[in-house]
Amino acid sequence: MTTSIRIEDSYQGYSLDSFCIPKHYEDDLESVLIPYGVIHDRIERIAKDIFTDFGKEPLVAICVLKGGYKFYTDLIDKINSLNRNQGERSVPLSVDFIRLRSYQNDKSIGTIEVIGGDNMESVKGKNVLVVEDIIDTGRTMQKLLGLLEEYQPKCVKVASLLLKRQPASNGYIPEYCGFEIPDKFVVGYALDFNERFRDLHHICVVNDNGINKYKV
Ligand code: HPA
Ligand code: MG
Repeated sequence: MTTSIRIEDSYQGYSLDSFCIPKHYEDDLESVLIPYGVIHDRIERIAKDIFTDFGKEPLVAICVLKGGYKFYTDLIDKINSLNRNQGERSVPLSVDFIRLRSYQNDKSIGTIEVIGGDNMESVKGKNVLVVEDIIDTGRTMQKLLGLLEEYQPKCVKVASLLLKRQPASNGYIPEYCGFEIPDKFVVGYALDFNERFRDLHHICVVNDNGINKYKV
């Protein structure tokens, strides 16, 4: 397991002018926080760590949609590439996709429901890797892990591309993490703001104009 890359609060990111940004978003972003190429190179290393840690045992890799889809496909591609090329061993992979719906009623602390995906019984006795785009307060992940435990997997680990330094965090830290980022709203590489910006190549910080334009 490797330490994640820490992006400091003082870091200003790259100017939008230095990269290619779709016309439909050029007024809505403040900066490029993590360019696509760097995301890819970091995922290559996370894939190597996972390949090393999980050995020859089958792994059920669960993608948390929609935000996790790009990280998931790039991560699985890289693990598959190691599987093809490392010779002595490989990690048998099965894939699954879930979505989470959260509820907040007036009394309870809020619960989540898993929608889609295979029957959760299939994780029984298996090594499970949950793949997420971002951990913010950590509450959603904590609830998902509690839910998964009921199905008695052999072990559950989490890979999150981003971990936000969020004052309201419950302290949850994923086993595999790409980048630890400042408490700013980020979009792109499948991360959204009200379903916008998933089609943006790089991970960017959204500006006030973008927030106002797409708030619901
Ligand atoms: N961007 C997108 N989705 C999120 C974020 C963010 O910064 N934090 C929690 N969910
Ligand atoms: Mg998410």
